[in-house]
Amino acid sequence: MSNGSDERPDAEERIDALAEIAMRFARVRGEIEKVYIGPETIVEALMIALLARGHVLIEGVPGIAKTTLVKTFAQTLDCSYRRIQFTPDLLPSDITGTYIFNRRNDEFVLREGPIFANIVLGDEINRAPAKTQSALLEAMQEEQVTVEGTTRALERPFLVLATQNPIEQEGVYLLPEAQLDRFLIKLDMGYPTLEDELVIMVTHARETEPVEPVLSPAEVLRWSQLVEEVTVRRELVEYIVNLSRYTRAAAQVSLGASPRASIALMRGAKARAVLRGRDFVLPDDIKALAPLVLTHRILLHPESELSGVSSRQVVQMALDSVPYAS
Ligand SMILES: Nc1ncnc2c1ncn2[C@@H]1O[C@H](COP(=O)(O)OP(=O)(O)OP(=O)(O)O)[C@@H](O)[C@H]1O
Ligand SMILES: [Mg+2]
Repeated sequence: MSNGSDERPDAEERIDALAEIAMRFARVRGEIEKVYIGPETIVEALMIALLARGHVLIEGVPGIAKTTLVKTFAQTLDCSYRRIQFTPDLLPSDITGTYIFNRRNDEFVLREGPIFANIVLGDEINRAPAKTQSALLEAMQEEQVTVEGTTRALERPFLVLATQNPIEQEGVYLLPEAQLDRFLIKLDMGYPTLEDELVIMVTHARETEPVEPVLSPAEVLRWSQLVEEVTVRRELVEYIVNLSRYTRAAAQVSLGASPRASIALMRGAKARAVLRGRDFVLPDDIKALAPLVLTHRILLHPESELSGVSSRQVVQMALDSVPYAS
């Protein structure tokens, strides 16, 4: 084989790999559907965050299957999974771990905390004080953990799925804006539709089939690699930036989407493209993800909030007004 023909098989391999991903992802969805009934976009959002090396904050009232969804998602991935229930007395070391003395060989060994897993569910993170929250958020940001001065890298894939109760509830500590920004995606989970709720009732009347792992950690890393290689046309990069800029200039807004938000939107759009078997981003990828990526990074003026405007509406206004050149 000559070197000159090297490029072709590469491109062909990639096309095959992408077609395979779309099929395999359908299997993941099929496994999750055995247990969790809800919009496909929710499962897709979790997978997008996993592939884009981001994290997800899920907000919603009790009893809508937040925990069930996350657990089932982890089961389909054949990854290690740990759950941390956040409470007012949870300490940072309950997340990261502590050194304990091992008598047998006279040395301190790290007893790893629950953060040392591929998929970590941080349940009700706004029930713990800021210091404990930041232990989680630091790990998310750095993909490493420092325990008593020693730094340890976390194994990849590493995905934090955090849940939080709506802010109206008592005894919750609000996550500061800067920390909300650490989440690639924020999902507002609502009540199921009538049709879905009827299916939930039937599903729970009988024993559900066991969920099978259909994706390995190594495969997840390979898919993530493909996400890095997705191309985004110049016009679409401009489109993303203009959406962010719109939110900064909007009269109702006191803090708009940062460049970090623009980057997050691009990463998410690339991951969505890969899940749909493409190695290029379409305007639709950006439009579908903008509400999930931008809404929680926008802070409104108190008076706009009082007059009933929401961050979500600002993002919708951006989508309605910002044109993209094609
Ligand atoms: N969309 C759904 N699909 C399947 N099961 C559901 C759905 N919504 C609720 N259920 C069922 O309702 C119960 C509550 O689910 P779960 O504990 O996961 O809720 P949660 O949102 O985590 O609640 P909490 O905020 O109290 O922790 C479970 O038995 C779950 O299977
Ligand atoms: Mg729960």
